[in-house]
Amino acid sequence: MKHEAFHYHSLEEIRAAAEACGVNLPLSGDLSSLFEPLSLGICAAENRIALQPMEGTDGTEDGAPGELTVRRYERFAAGGAGLIWFEAVATVPEGRASAHQLMLTENNLGSFKKLVEHIKETGIRHNGYAPVLIMQATNSGRYSKPTGVSAPLIAYNCPPLEDTPLPRERILTDDALRRYSEKYARAARLAREAGFDGIDIKCCHRYLACELLSAFTREGAYGGSYENRTRFIKDAFRAAESEAGACFLTTRLNAYDGFIYPYGWGVKADGSLEVDLTEPLRLINELKTQFKIPIIDITMGNPYKNPHVNRPYDHGNYVPPEHPFEGLGRMMQGVSEIQHAYPDLPVIGSAFSYLRGFAPNLAAGMVSGGHCAMAGFGRLAFANPDFPNQLKQTGKLNKVCVTCGGCASLLRAGRCAGCVVHDREVYKL
Ligand SMILES: Cc1cc2nc3c(=O)[nH]c(=O)nc-3n(C[C@H](O)[C@H](O)[C@H](O)COP(=O)(O)O)c2cc1C
Repeated sequence: MKHEAFHYHSLEEIRAAAEACGVNLPLSGDLSSLFEPLSLGICAAENRIALQPMEGTDGTEDGAPGELTVRRYERFAAGGAGLIWFEAVATVPEGRASAHQLMLTENNLGSFKKLVEHIKETGIRHNGYAPVLIMQATNSGRYSKPTGVSAPLIAYNCPPLEDTPLPRERILTDDALRRYSEKYARAARLAREAGFDGIDIKCCHRYLACELLSAFTREGAYGGSYENRTRFIKDAFRAAESEAGACFLTTRLNAYDGFIYPYGWGVKADGSLEVDLTEPLRLINELKTQFKIPIIDITMGNPYKNPHVNRPYDHGNYVPPEHPFEGLGRMMQGVSEIQHAYPDLPVIGSAFSYLRGFAPNLAAGMVSGGHCAMAGFGRLAFANPDFPNQLKQTGKLNKVCVTCGGCASLLRAGRCAGCVVHDREVYKL
């Protein structure tokens, strides 16, 4: 179904259109909640604005930050966000999503160290504070493309994602999974040495750790029961904990995959696509009590198969099966339920960019209403890296994401990703 393109001029219009889709968005005209500090115990964020991890596919072949990586984070740091959730960084070469995905190793530790220092210094110079900086450690699993050619490492054959089942040798053995979970020890040591404040054991968007959460049909130690399906992420946390030192542990977690049971996590087991947060809430509680995570970043969906769940939009070739307000409503509802279940654990919400210039109003309403502690912005940060300072100084944004999907298309093509609308001297489709 083709939906009307974004054409709203006021909060009232958005509220009415969302309500017509059965969605109640907590929009606020008062943005002040976004500029309150947030303590994470061991460190503090100056404000409630987080930049979500956004892969730029601009690392060097050995995985070090390239020139465009440095440019991107310099702009992010100058922009004034309280927290930067640094993009996906591979833990093993065969688990890279592209030949230019970042990968932190002993050989390139120096360049990561330099970048982290530069981010912190830039924040202090421009704004008087450094952003909290979290590195996202990943194994791309099903979406591994280390040389630019797809070379999937999967947890199980998943019909909603495959036209024909992938060959058996693509399914990782229990032994291989155990070895991959152990790799997070080295990732945590290197992240700590590079100077990151925290390390994220990435568990979202159907990359390896996330795919295992829905491995209902897999046999052996990593499939079937809740304990088995969550074994990998917990082992990865344990491994990371052994080397993380002062670097805190956290995760960017899918609360809902958007695929039917038995191929989805966070979904009702009745053949519908309805959200069921029972298992995600159980896992969050375990990570909170066992690994003392000081913050969690919540997201949903799969950017390849159901991008409307992951990042609501109204442009591009793929026509979403639901109105973007429905995707936005699902995300906000899930984030809010998790925050209300664990009020002492700061939750970061995702997917605000669809609302263009009104995204900060939803963010402020979510924060002031206690639905999340921080609002995380992805595409908006590509479009307008200075947006936190702009909001603080003027209450308005002069450039917003138009949800054209250009940045995601660049990423899929293995090209350097950025905003093809507002940064078009650098990024072209
Ligand atoms: C080009 C591009 C790169 C992305 N890279 C990552 C990534 O490295 N890690 C991650 O967890 N999410 C990644 N995402 C998802 C975003 O962090 C975010 O969840 C999504 O864009 C929805 O938020 P938004 O509406 O503010 O854009 C990426 C999205 C895009 C479009």
